[in-house]
Amino acid sequence: MMKAVTELLDLSGKSAIVTGGAVGIGQGITRRLAEAGASVLIADINGDEAIRAAKSFSDAGLRVESIAADVSDEADVREVVDTAVRLFGGVDILVNNAGIYPSVPLASLTPQTFDRVVAVNLRGVFLLTQRVAELLKAQGRGGSIINVTSIDALHPSMVGLAAYDATKHGVWGLTKNVALELAPHDIQVNAVAPGGILTPGTQAGTGSQGEIDPEMMKAFLATLPMRRMGEPDEIGKVVLFLASDMASYMTGSQVVVDGGALLR
Ligand code: NAI
Repeated sequence: MMKAVTELLDLSGKSAIVTGGAVGIGQGITRRLAEAGASVLIADINGDEAIRAAKSFSDAGLRVESIAADVSDEADVREVVDTAVRLFGGVDILVNNAGIYPSVPLASLTPQTFDRVVAVNLRGVFLLTQRVAELLKAQGRGGSIINVTSIDALHPSMVGLAAYDATKHGVWGLTKNVALELAPHDIQVNAVAPGGILTPGTQAGTGSQGEIDPEMMKAFLATLPMRRMGEPDEIGKVVLFLASDMASYMTGSQVVVDGGALLR
């Protein structure tokens, strides 16, 4: 029997972990997964923002909890997965979204900054994926892992992101290899590659705390084929698609969501 569209998108009874879900793209992803019926645990290094986000979702009637955690830390990652199991009885969906993108030209890129970008963007994805994959195998009901990469996993968007681009290419490689290994267990592993999404991170400007210069923003927007930045919800909708039965035969894929930026 073919399922109806509403049934295909229904995540009732499922539970999800979204890293970096307190703000920005992660928050947009959390909203759509929760709206589709999933219980969601936001795991974010900014515990206060995570509590705030979870509360506002809960006030709106969605099942969202939060935990303060650094995805690059093994003990924190263990705690995240144990907490999801304790709160929701298991995990079905993992969204590796947490990421940092300090912009530093090669000449001034320190080994410390390089290592931190690798630790958060690549080691964090590995740690969570390994732990959740073991749980999904033990649960024996399949599951879905979605990694938020970037258009920079395919092509550099600007100077100053060498460490970042290395990690995002790395996450794409990890996505494909893990997809191959987990496919026989009915665990799908896919990536979403955003480009040009308006978030606290991109608004702060990479590295600085101030707002992006309006003139720079105008120049940047002029290079975007759709002439606008994307909304976090435009990534949330695609992650919902990948987490749902709509994507039942997809694994090892990377979906680009960039308003055409890569066409330039
Ligand atoms: P953001 O900076 O607005 O938010 C990131 C969230 O992750 C914050 O809540 C932060 O506290 C959390 N976080 C940072 N380090 C963490 C750690 N070690 N452990 C746990 N949580 C941590 O970022 P944004 O723009 O929402 O980006 C989210 C993801 O999307 C990142 O992986 C980024 O590389 C990717 N991306 C974003 C694009 C954009 O245009 N905004 C374009 C391409 C990719």
